Amino acid sequence: MVLSDVRLEVMRYIEEKLDAIMAEFLKPVEEHWQPADLLPDATQENFLDEVKMLRESAKELPYDHIAVLVGDTITEEALPTYESWLMDVTGIDQHAPSAWTKWVRNWTAEENRHGDLLNKYLYLSGRVNMRAMDVSTQYLIADGFDIQTGRDPYRNFVYTSFQELATNISHRRTATLAKQAGNVQLSKMCGVIASDEMRHAKAYKTFVSQIFEIDPTGMMLAFEDMMRKKIVMPAHFLRETGVQIGQTFSHFSDAAQRLGVYTTYDYINILDSLLTEWQIAYIEDLSDAGQRARDYLMALPDRLRRIAERTKLPALDYQFTWIA
Ligand SMILES: [Fe+2]
Ligand SMILES: [Fe+2]
Repeated sequence: MVLSDVRLEVMRYIEEKLDAIMAEFLKPVEEHWQPADLLPDATQENFLDEVKMLRESAKELPYDHIAVLVGDTITEEALPTYESWLMDVTGIDQHAPSAWTKWVRNWTAEENRHGDLLNKYLYLSGRVNMRAMDVSTQYLIADGFDIQTGRDPYRNFVYTSFQELATNISHRRTATLAKQAGNVQLSKMCGVIASDEMRHAKAYKTFVSQIFEIDPTGMMLAFEDMMRKKIVMPAHFLRETGVQIGQTFSHFSDAAQRLGVYTTYDYINILDSLLTEWQIAYIEDLSDAGQRARDYLMALPDRLRRIAERTKLPALDYQFTWIA
């Protein structure tokens, strides 16, 4: 059987269970939080007072914290790239609606609230040059991304499992930092986004677990391949006016490292947690190549830790156009 036929069969197998998975990990629209629940209500008399309070509390946020919030917002706002990518995965076809297309649409609908909420907060905060941020968002959507999964569902679900966990960590840490700075409102916003990301991570991890059950070697090789290529962040092409593609991303990622909201160690810990979650050490019926892939994966966290110990924390020496 050719590779894509196996993939299609596996996708059909998971599809039968997808309604149950969606019921567990997605929420009905009416029960969900909306950005409006967490922001000043412009129809009310006290709107301007609330905006004033929001601006006061935003004044306390350190430079790196604002930089990370802007980067996170732009990453979320590039959602059109992620949706169109997922719709193109083998076994997902928007012209033949199925539980898979329902999954992608519902996932997108939940994610869309993230960029919306953060964008409105940053606009009201008065700390951000909105035009510069808008330009970066437009660039990022226009530039797309290159996550090296191809149309392969196995590789895509490794990527999305990893990525949802990474965004859960970074939003959760920005929530904690906001709380420590006395900014309860922002803390709540980042907190609700983080909990969405965790539900999504659980769903994608479930897809991978299901695949391991029926195609252990294929899944192991795909996992190994993604880790050899390294999981790049979806905003790796991030840029500002006059700045080369990708350079802004590395400054954004430096700010996240300094702030401790997402570090090299988090990358390694996510890998560790996936090795445990998918019980990689105990997967049976692997081919020789599958066993070698498993050996590579099991040894990888320690190798990455040794490299991480040698990397220095980058100093703050960059001025983003985004920050007023
Ligand atoms: Fe998100
Ligand atoms: Fe997400």
